[in-house]
Amino acid sequence: MQFFLDTGSLDEIRTATRWGLVDGVTTNPSLVGREGMDHRTLIREIAGMVSGPISVETTSESADEMVAQGREYVTWAPNVFVKVPCTPEGIRAASLMRGAGIRINVTLVFSLNQAILAAKVGAFFVSPFLGRLDDIGEDSMILLRDIVEVYRTYDFSTQVLAASLRYPMHVAHAAKIGADIATMPFKVMEQLFKHPLTEIGQTRFLADWRALVAELERKKTKV
Ligand code: E4P
Repeated sequence: MQFFLDTGSLDEIRTATRWGLVDGVTTNPSLVGREGMDHRTLIREIAGMVSGPISVETTSESADEMVAQGREYVTWAPNVFVKVPCTPEGIRAASLMRGAGIRINVTLVFSLNQAILAAKVGAFFVSPFLGRLDDIGEDSMILLRDIVEVYRTYDFSTQVLAASLRYPMHVAHAAKIGADIATMPFKVMEQLFKHPLTEIGQTRFLADWRALVAELERKKTKV
């Protein structure tokens, strides 16, 4: 399973890449908007830190404009993937860009049928938004399981990118179900490390070690 970071923050990407955990990055207009930087400059900075896929989202409602944006985005860095929404225009844009060899991430997916559309136009990634479905009282894991199952049945090559993950349990469930990738905010990636018994155990190991070092020091000074 691959881990992508869902952020536009260079600081977060820098920290998580030091952990060796960032296989790619997903961005969207809201995340980019928070950084207050020129879009191209930001994506090029990210590409300087991450060699895996970087998803960059189109910001138009028309297929022709999405295609024009996508064609520009892919000149920013060789690992740019173009994100289009799962609307008729977005799917048309995906189909056109796919024909031009541009790798596509179909985003804002909330149903199995939408995921099938993404696969049928040859998207590289499909992004079901799990947290946003849970927000409206649906069980997002049913959708994720259905997508993984139907993609297997038809041998679709589109990779399932579990998105809008809000809690560590979302990541664990996505892994159990067989999502190819989990994209998560920095905070969720950071929470994956946490277990109280790890912290208690590490504190105890270090205290015992320090006690041994101190005892050996004492013995040395006595001799
Ligand atoms: C994925 O590519 C999206 O950027 C993201 O996961 C959306 O998450 P949110 O629902 O927390 O905004």
